[in-house]
Amino acid sequence: MLLTGRVSELKKLRLGILGSGKGSNMVAIADAIAAGSVPAEIAIVLADVADAGILTRAKDRGLPARFIAPGKFRTKLDEEAEAAYIAALKEAGVELVVLAGFMRILKGEFLRAFPQRVINIHPSLLPSFTGLEAWKQALDYGVKFTGCTVHFVDQGVDTGPIIAQQTVPVLSRDDADTLHGRIQVAERQLYPLAISALARGLVRVEGRKTVTQSAG
Ligand code: GAR
Repeated sequence: MLLTGRVSELKKLRLGILGSGKGSNMVAIADAIAAGSVPAEIAIVLADVADAGILTRAKDRGLPARFIAPGKFRTKLDEEAEAAYIAALKEAGVELVVLAGFMRILKGEFLRAFPQRVINIHPSLLPSFTGLEAWKQALDYGVKFTGCTVHFVDQGVDTGPIIAQQTVPVLSRDDADTLHGRIQVAERQLYPLAISALARGLVRVEGRKTVTQSAG
């Protein structure tokens, strides 16, 4: 499937960004948009944590930002919350859902509402080290390189087609914080680039793989 169609015809791809944390990826995306390197606009920012930094940082930039309570489960949205997230994103006219540190698994109804329109950034070179604290898993395993991955979200956990990856060396002096810090620097470069490629209609999905055309 070629991800052009509506996306490439529109001047700016409307993004809905979901997060649970401090929002450094959201800021990097907003900065890249402001710099003119990503043909997109942030239509709404949603968080499942009431005092998440991502909400404050979005509001500071004049972006619409809302907390939506996740409901009764710890690792996913309950049915009512899922419907509220879908409604908020649809009302904002979102075309691409961008998970930026959103720490809940999205499945079923949500993915059907945005088919092949949900992407995530994960702090490892997938398929290695899925799940939580991937940088710690990499450190404990003893790999010499790790990194970050932008991928489409499918029904699994961190299993969808890979769009882009960036490597980060693991240094002998690294602890979890220094390694995670360097991975996050890489994330802030990679995520805007991947979104830009999607917004320009350059990313094609072929089965479980993606092919990205060069911008030139
Ligand atoms: C990022 O490092 C992202 O890779 C990670 O959460 C952090 C959010 O930081 N996501 C996951 O671990 C998802 N499995 P941010 O709020 O500063 O963008």
